[in-house]
Amino acid sequence: MKKLKRLGKIITILVMIAMVSAVFVGCKSQTLSTTPSQEQQSQPAPKNVSIVFAVGGAPSEIDYWHKVIDEFEAKNPNITVNLLKQPMDSGTRMQTLVTPLSGHESTPDVFLMDVAWVGQFAASGWLAPLNGYVSQDNYDTSVFFKKVIDLADSYKGDLIALPVYIDAGLLYYRTDLLKKYDFSAPPKTWEDLVKIAEKVQAGERKNNPKFWGFVWQGKQYEGLVCDFLEFIASNGGNILNKDGQPVLNSANNIQALTFMADLIHKYKISPPSTYTEMTEEPVRMTFQKGNAMFERNWPYAWGLHNSDDSQVKGKTGIAPLPHFLEHQSAATLGGWHIGINTYSKNKEAAWKFVKFVESYDVQKGFAMNLGWNPGRQDVYKDSEVLKKAPYLEKLREVFVNAIPRPSVPYYTKMSEAIQKYVNAAIAGRMDPKTALDKAQQEVEQIIKQYGS
Ligand code: GLC
Repeated sequence: MKKLKRLGKIITILVMIAMVSAVFVGCKSQTLSTTPSQEQQSQPAPKNVSIVFAVGGAPSEIDYWHKVIDEFEAKNPNITVNLLKQPMDSGTRMQTLVTPLSGHESTPDVFLMDVAWVGQFAASGWLAPLNGYVSQDNYDTSVFFKKVIDLADSYKGDLIALPVYIDAGLLYYRTDLLKKYDFSAPPKTWEDLVKIAEKVQAGERKNNPKFWGFVWQGKQYEGLVCDFLEFIASNGGNILNKDGQPVLNSANNIQALTFMADLIHKYKISPPSTYTEMTEEPVRMTFQKGNAMFERNWPYAWGLHNSDDSQVKGKTGIAPLPHFLEHQSAATLGGWHIGINTYSKNKEAAWKFVKFVESYDVQKGFAMNLGWNPGRQDVYKDSEVLKKAPYLEKLREVFVNAIPRPSVPYYTKMSEAIQKYVNAAIAGRMDPKTALDKAQQEVEQIIKQYGS
């Protein structure tokens, strides 16, 4: 009996050794084999890789990206994603990518790009075409807005990026103060906005000297071009005409820029800090602390205004931006797109991360937790998303008709010229006509030099 038991044990041990060796030999043959079987080809042996993902944004957004990365790593244990934190400002974010990419560095492997500079990155040859991955995985790109894919994410027939979220400029207002001062609806025209802002500001200043009628982005940076485009387009103007020629010093644009300066210097409903420090976050915080009646910002502000520690929770309304008499409301098209560094040594892993970021659940999470407008259109039908971000449906027209900035490879140069002169005008250092004449000349020069 004892002998039999011992024999049984020995047999069990032998079987285990045989199994372990089989696995070991199998692994070896997988890594050493030069002609892998069909199965091995479609499921490459997992290999540990690290990728660097560069992303910026508000602190709450960076925190959320860490959660997304943790989830991705839990599902892909062989891939580590290192987050390279970038600033919030679009121009600085671009610079921190231009340096490694123009030096053909392999990291960051994957990054977010402002819609304003995707074209420039593509023209520089820095973005790995995604077509191969799309066909290899039978990846369905029809879940994205076709217009966005065609306009922003394609270059010379290649797919070079995918939209993570889409932005459009919006007007935020205080619902409680509108009522308190007997106004029945948010302003439709800029004239109405001034009227309401002046009255509310005068009343609120009695108890709160820090209170302002209207806060918006006026610092010399990319955000100012977005606001400028909204003011001029809501007066029938534009930056370039249909033939791509600059029309910066048109009468409509001069009138709109004069109004922007008047908000600060004549009506005094926007603070002088508008032209020195007002970017998205200072604007958002002024409103969120209860120190403004109106705010121009992107959709991300919605979630934060309604967070538990916000002074304006439940008191915030959202509407299309006002327009000048006889013209229509205009919103600038913004948003961020994900692309892969063409010099990356880990493009497969980067593509896996891109797919994860674009998956239904992650996109839904962005909408629910950050108030972002998802890049995927199927998420817009999700009832939970619509409940959390009702403006997505209510302001659909704003998003559909948002105006893109000029899509040219030298856009950054053009933007820098516009920023400089528009900022000088709103700071009161240059009269609006001179500022736009100078911007016009400089942009003509840039097109001469880089265009064609
Ligand atoms: C937002 C927009 C982006 C724009 C930037 C300006 O991030 O999504 O397109 O350029 O603001 O500050």
